[in-house]
Amino acid sequence: MGTLNESGILNSLRRVEDPDLHKDLVTLNMIKNLKIDGNNISFDIELTTPACPLKDLMKNNAIKAIKEDFPEVGNVVVNITSNVRAHVDNVKDAMLPGVKNTIAVASGKGGVGKSTVAVNLAVALAKDGAKVGLLDADVYGPSIPLMLGIDQKPKIYQDAGSSKMLPLENYGIKLMSIGFLVDENAPVIWRGPMASGAIKQFMSDVNWGNLDYLIYDLPPGTGDIQLTLVQTIPLTGAVIVTTPQEVALIDARKGLKMFERVNVPVLGIVENMSYFIAPDTGKKYDIFGLGGGKKLSEENNVPFLGEIPINTNIREGGDTGKPIVASMPDSEYANKIMEIARNLAAQVSIANSTQREKKIEIFLNPQR
Ligand SMILES: Nc1ncnc2c1ncn2[C@@H]1O[C@H](COP(=O)(O)OP(=O)(O)OP(=O)(O)O)[C@@H](O)[C@H]1O
Ligand SMILES: [Mg+2]
Repeated sequence: MGTLNESGILNSLRRVEDPDLHKDLVTLNMIKNLKIDGNNISFDIELTTPACPLKDLMKNNAIKAIKEDFPEVGNVVVNITSNVRAHVDNVKDAMLPGVKNTIAVASGKGGVGKSTVAVNLAVALAKDGAKVGLLDADVYGPSIPLMLGIDQKPKIYQDAGSSKMLPLENYGIKLMSIGFLVDENAPVIWRGPMASGAIKQFMSDVNWGNLDYLIYDLPPGTGDIQLTLVQTIPLTGAVIVTTPQEVALIDARKGLKMFERVNVPVLGIVENMSYFIAPDTGKKYDIFGLGGGKKLSEENNVPFLGEIPINTNIREGGDTGKPIVASMPDSEYANKIMEIARNLAAQVSIANSTQREKKIEIFLNPQR
């Protein structure tokens, strides 16, 4: 049995792992503000995201480890805090200073619910306490302002001789749309070599402030425009939305291939419109088939983030600018989306921690 002092407590906490990052809390530098007052102790566990699905588990395991090692301990007060780790990328830092992570929401097929998923995930992460921005990158027709109940245009101001834009805000998230910029009849500039320059310019003209996650909603498909978008803004990773049926899965596979080609990790797959529960009978209908998203994720060794059923309130929420996660927070549907958002946040943390390890490895073994 150890002594109830700082090193004794840290030793106990070395036995507590972050189940996502597979390392202990001390090695991960997550223990902060450790205070010992007689037999009472308090400390913070600083998570890598406020939307951590496992925070209660880690807290309980920490308390348990300490009580096992120090039966004489009095009060153990554990505060959960968070500090989202940033994806390390020089190009991103130059273009989007203050933005820690960028996540693209993509699909091969159109109309599978990408924008609905992007909006609700953004609101869900913000509800958990993260700073979130949403970029509507659908050059064919922006739909996000409508889905978030925003009908203004962004404010433009002058900063050191150049024009800057302030994102709009609703439901605790910041929104900007490429559609604010394009004339309805001029999506043509988004093709070819001009596109990349125009996107870069647009991105650096937006004052996002500090963000933990900037999510962007891509136009459907895997063509030139999508490729330009995902190559221009350095990405922490991508989320692929699909519906369960084979035609959607074929296109989702193309999406996976596209990200593989440009070396962007796929953080996970979301299956939307997974099933329908009839409100009158409670009977479940697998309208678009069963389990396609899960199967796709297993085939490609990519995390499955969860499924969202078909539901009238989800559709109405989109049409009326009231995302279900905000307007019906206690519904089963909102809970499912909250869970997906937390799984996504965990995958971002994992991607960043492996990225760091790779960089350290290259540093230590430069010949490899
Ligand atoms: N889980 C769901 N339940 C019911 N309706 C949904 C669900 N997900 C999306 N919808 C509805 O389906 C339609 C298409 O969704 P959405 O616009 O989000 O798809 P998208 O993939 O972004 O489309 P596009 O490819 O055109 O960008 C919308 O009317 C939306 O409200
Ligand atoms: Mg869309």
